[in-house]
Amino acid sequence: MKDMHQIRLRVNGREHELIVEARRTLADMLRHDLGYTGTHLGCEHGICGACTVLVDGGPVRSCLMFGVQADGTEVSTVEGLAAGEQLSDLQQAFSDHHALQCGFCTPGFLMLAEAYLAGPAPADGPTEAEVRELVASNLCRCTGYQGIVEAVLATARSRRRAGGP
Ligand code: FES
Ligand code: FES
Repeated sequence: MKDMHQIRLRVNGREHELIVEARRTLADMLRHDLGYTGTHLGCEHGICGACTVLVDGGPVRSCLMFGVQADGTEVSTVEGLAAGEQLSDLQQAFSDHHALQCGFCTPGFLMLAEAYLAGPAPADGPTEAEVRELVASNLCRCTGYQGIVEAVLATARSRRRAGGP
């Protein structure tokens, strides 16, 4: 018999209530039960970071977390970044700096960088070395990372000029 649980969570500000099997991952729950297919699955065992989403503001690998563990949380996925047709500043920077090719890894990098940029940053930072260390936690097979680093740095600079995240 399946071990089912009723949970509630918010995804990109929208309330969801659903019944989910205990062993279902957060990634599968988001994609298959709630339709947030922007969250991609690569390795499915915590290595590639393609499945990165934010849970209560912090980045998690949604293939390593059970959906039931997200009960009562606020989850952010890549679908929540744009305002309709208007890309977020970070998404626009990825486009401007050619930070994607096939795009499979992009949702994970965007959510990872979004959490990082929303956190406390030094007045003159982050440095390129810090951003390189950040993006080293996710895998991209196409870009060589240079564009991703430039996009994150450009977004950090423009947010700093604007006076906040
Ligand atoms: S799919 Fe989750 S880390 Fe690769
Ligand atoms: S753009 Fe293809 S894997 Fe990153």
